Amino acid sequence: MNDKITWGKSQFPLINNKEIVYLDSAATTQKPSMVIARLAEYNESSHANIHRGAYSLSIEATDLYDEVRKKVAGLISAKSKDEIIFTKGTTDSFNLLAFSVGESFINEGDEIVISLAEHHSNILPWQALARRRGAVLKYLPVDDEARIIVDELENIITEKTKFVSVTMVSNAIGTVQAVREVIRRAREVGAFIALDGAQSVPHMKVDVQDLDCDFLAFSAHKMFGPTGVGVLYGKKELLEQMEPYQTGGDMIEYVELFESSYAPVPTKFEAGTPNIEGVVGFGAAIDFINELGIENIYDFEKELTKYAYEKISALDHIMVHGARNIDDRGSVISFSVEDVHPHDVATVLDNYGICLRAGHHCAQPLMKRLGLPSTTRASFSIYNKKEDIDKLCESLKEVRRWLGYS
Ligand SMILES: Cc1ncc(COP(=O)(O)O)c(C=O)c1O
Repeated sequence: MNDKITWGKSQFPLINNKEIVYLDSAATTQKPSMVIARLAEYNESSHANIHRGAYSLSIEATDLYDEVRKKVAGLISAKSKDEIIFTKGTTDSFNLLAFSVGESFINEGDEIVISLAEHHSNILPWQALARRRGAVLKYLPVDDEARIIVDELENIITEKTKFVSVTMVSNAIGTVQAVREVIRRAREVGAFIALDGAQSVPHMKVDVQDLDCDFLAFSAHKMFGPTGVGVLYGKKELLEQMEPYQTGGDMIEYVELFESSYAPVPTKFEAGTPNIEGVVGFGAAIDFINELGIENIYDFEKELTKYAYEKISALDHIMVHGARNIDDRGSVISFSVEDVHPHDVATVLDNYGICLRAGHHCAQPLMKRLGLPSTTRASFSIYNKKEDIDKLCESLKEVRRWLGYS
């Protein structure tokens, strides 16, 4: 294994203390001690409401919060920290985006294009927007490995397309999408382009300037940070033209009786008291990632995923879904066990101390396209080792026996 990753389970108190094999990091990652300690330290010594107080404790909390905005901008190579909006998570980011883009840029008859491989959070906000504005929602088809069919881009993304939103990596099946091709086509027709980075930003270098995407959404809790914190990156010149999603305290400049003016971006999009401690904890998670090095994380997880793919695929009665080429696969293995419902697989494995997800993974249109009612999903992070995969495979051999099959 990549020996640059020196962090192990011992840095993650929960999985260490419980002695479990945690293979559900695509749903949420466990937190390292330094994030847990940072949350406690903040609450013990720096907590106050931000942007409001003239006293030093509030100024300290404000500085800590804004410091994290800079860290996020650095992580994804944004031009400026003003392009980083803190949200509750990827779902909240897409709701904000679809609402604000809808108010500002989408008219009746305009087309919005997403793919069949999206998480529900990158589907339902666009459905609602299409209904509200009389726009047309279209889908990019995917092949049997859940890969967007690049040859179809020209047919689906046309001069009528105003907005395109696709995931970088499928959470359900793990397939890495050819987003550069999608961006190139969106640019050709002058459409805006948003990327779902929930399953990419935690695992690989994502550079928004190099990609030239207009928007990017992701969640802190999938990258060692707290729940209830997410990010919407947006190009500043676009954010400045967009209507706010929510209105109220903090996001204003002046409030009159019947009209008000708004604060500059990103504050315009952060109405009310935000999740200050969550953002501070997210800052520690980014420090943790930077200490490890995102390229080292990528290499480590790639090797682990390759090992898992080969071992699980070799088992009898098991079918692994998604990309066969390991370079087209994120840190996810989604599979079916012959004759056994995925929920039963996950329940049997729980008896062996293995935590796996089973179901449609909030991607019902994709599952329908692939003809899969549901799957069992193992997903990896830097606290996993080859021994975890070995234990998973040994336990998987027992699943059918538990349920009375040979
Ligand atoms: C690809 C993808 N998009 C969006 C989401 C939604 O993220 P959240 O639940 O943090 O809002 C997830 C969560 O699993 C995801 O994997």
